[in-house]
Amino acid sequence: MEFKSKIKTIEWVDTYSKMVDQTVIPYEYKFVNITSGEDMFNAIRNMIVRGAPAIGIAGAHGVILFAQEGAEKFDTREEFVNWLIEKAENMKTSRPTAVNLMWAVQKQIEVINNSKSDIKGIIEELKTNAIKLENEDIEINKKIGDYGAEVVPKGATILTHCNAGALATVGYGTALGVVRSAFAKDNTVQVFADETRPRQQGARITTFELAMDGIPVTLITDGMCSYFMKKGMIDMVVVGADRIAANGDTANKIGTYTVAIAAKYHNVPFYIAAPLSTIDTSIKTGDEIVIEERSREEVTHINGKIICAPEVNVINPGFDVTPHELIAGIITEKGILRPDYNKSIAEAFS
Ligand code: MRU
Repeated sequence: MEFKSKIKTIEWVDTYSKMVDQTVIPYEYKFVNITSGEDMFNAIRNMIVRGAPAIGIAGAHGVILFAQEGAEKFDTREEFVNWLIEKAENMKTSRPTAVNLMWAVQKQIEVINNSKSDIKGIIEELKTNAIKLENEDIEINKKIGDYGAEVVPKGATILTHCNAGALATVGYGTALGVVRSAFAKDNTVQVFADETRPRQQGARITTFELAMDGIPVTLITDGMCSYFMKKGMIDMVVVGADRIAANGDTANKIGTYTVAIAAKYHNVPFYIAAPLSTIDTSIKTGDEIVIEERSREEVTHINGKIICAPEVNVINPGFDVTPHELIAGIITEKGILRPDYNKSIAEAFS
């Protein structure tokens, strides 16, 4: 049986990008239409859309939006192309850590560079490519889900951190894609979701989307994972990724590394679920991954209310890097990559 998720997070519609506004979940489930390149840059930066594969698609849409604007501005193809590539390169900087953003925008730049068409034709080719990337994202997630489901024990409790679900992709999800595929085979599978401070993607988004799809989920705060592992209540961990180095070191939402250490100590297998587009073979290790620094308000405030001494010093890295030694496998659309990752990752790309 195939699991049908009801969620489509982002899609191109005629002349604009339609996306779920993730800043208001769980209070509201509403869509916003992004109609300019600059608005897309800000939608990514301000996390109206978030999650590595979803921001990749958003970046690809942003290039189309700029192309539409450029068509109004420039008379010559050359001026149009030069301006558009500059805008596309800048779109890659809207967030620094998730490599899918750079990857998908680069796919659009390749379309522009390889095109033989006039301005109108380039815009059509960019739209076709973006829709292809959207469809592929869902197909890839289903493959990840199916490969991952093979290593989920019967009746398993799966711990996840942040949101690597349908709402972090076009649909279905990576880590939660594994959950969806496992649940389709065995409806006694359940999820423990870490709250995921400071932005609470686990509490706000993971519990919301699993509840929407009728998959049992228990919310815990970030510090509780080792408590439940010690009690034998967690059978495996599956999380997503924002960037994976050639040696398997993996950047994901801040707090993931702590979960991985706890899992190793308690002999709980810790898996990453991610498409190959999240693997950055240009970097050897996780030390080369740029970690996004986010605002102090994310830490000092909850729902607009201050929760600490007003002048307290705050550091707010958005991601951490889990060393490859703590990772039991990287679940991709080409199967589960196992250590030695330098070898298995290189093979996956060959
Ligand atoms: O800051 P966010 O919400 O964009 O971070 C998201 C994550 O860390 C996800 O786990 C990751 O992007 C994988 S999404 C399939």
